[in-house]
Amino acid sequence: MKPNKEVFIKQMPKVELHAHINGSFSNETLEKLSQLKHGTSAKDTEKYNLFTKLDLHDGFEKFKYAHELTDTPEAVALGTECVIRDFNDDNVVYLELRSTPRATPKMTKEQYVMAVIDTIIKMKTELPSIMVKLIVSINRRESIESAEENGALALKYAKLYPDIVCGVDLSGDPACKEFSDFEPILNKARENGLKLALHCGEIENQVEISSMLKFGMNRLGHGTYIKGDNEETLLKNNDIALECCLTSNLLCGVVKTYSDHHFRRFYKNGHPVVICTDDFGVFSTTLSTELHIASDTFSLSSDDLIKLSRMAIHCSFASHDEKQLIHGKIDAYAKSAVGFKVKIH
Ligand code: IMP
Ligand code: ZN
Repeated sequence: MKPNKEVFIKQMPKVELHAHINGSFSNETLEKLSQLKHGTSAKDTEKYNLFTKLDLHDGFEKFKYAHELTDTPEAVALGTECVIRDFNDDNVVYLELRSTPRATPKMTKEQYVMAVIDTIIKMKTELPSIMVKLIVSINRRESIESAEENGALALKYAKLYPDIVCGVDLSGDPACKEFSDFEPILNKARENGLKLALHCGEIENQVEISSMLKFGMNRLGHGTYIKGDNEETLLKNNDIALECCLTSNLLCGVVKTYSDHHFRRFYKNGHPVVICTDDFGVFSTTLSTELHIASDTFSLSSDDLIKLSRMAIHCSFASHDEKQLIHGKIDAYAKSAVGFKVKIH
């Protein structure tokens, strides 16, 4: 096969740091989940994926459909397995999944978390080339009591499975509640050794953005509305890496074109940036596609893409030894790619 950009990116060992489980269901996964729940084909699959442009509100509507299908531990396990398989098929070698523990009439939040963790453990033997971690999400739309439960679950399961549960995420509708409502929960998680990867600056709310940046976190999701010099200084001084989800931001209408994406500015300034999918099922994308778009839009060479992958490992919540292992895979690939004289421009 003639090496070209597509092949180079597809085969490159990749690192995904921002992927919500219930937003990462392909049509095939939705079919399987529908079969499991209803014993029939998913009539609504098209409803889930049929869109060309949506705003943040439409996006949240789409999660409801996935949530209806994952209302038992068995379905959560099946969904998680499919997501891991899909990332593995895209040659993702390190994956941080995030998900919101959810109680339904058929499942407790604890059973939800266990279903995800058990699946991650099971996949270690089935798919040994992908390393998977879990970030426990807190949904801003839910009550503070619910957020406290999720924080407590993150702490409990990080103690039981320190190799898997690595952090806490704050996500959900960014217009809901105040960031300060969640500070005590996030502080407790941080004090107990968990990393923080929080959605921040998804909507224009400079007061909240400032207070979040002052509070600090390890990584920040989106950051579309981080614009002022003061905010960029806080980001830099607090060493906060940026998770950039190009297609998610485009389809949600918060950036007009790929070229306008703030990735360009932060990357140019040498700030730690990571390309991520966010919800590859909802936005019909893959990590390879996102890297391809980044390469086309921002003129990234094969070397730049390899560097981005290394940067992603650096920003990950893996241990030192785990990072070394992933670096080894990327180094080997970079060497073989040079051998093939892969030119991607
Ligand atoms: P889950 O946590 O596995 O159920 O994944 C879906 C959930 O992730 C949604 O209900 C939202 O709470 C959250 N989510 C996914 N994408 C976004 C985003 O772009 N902004 C904020 N929250 C998001
Ligand atoms: Zn997200």
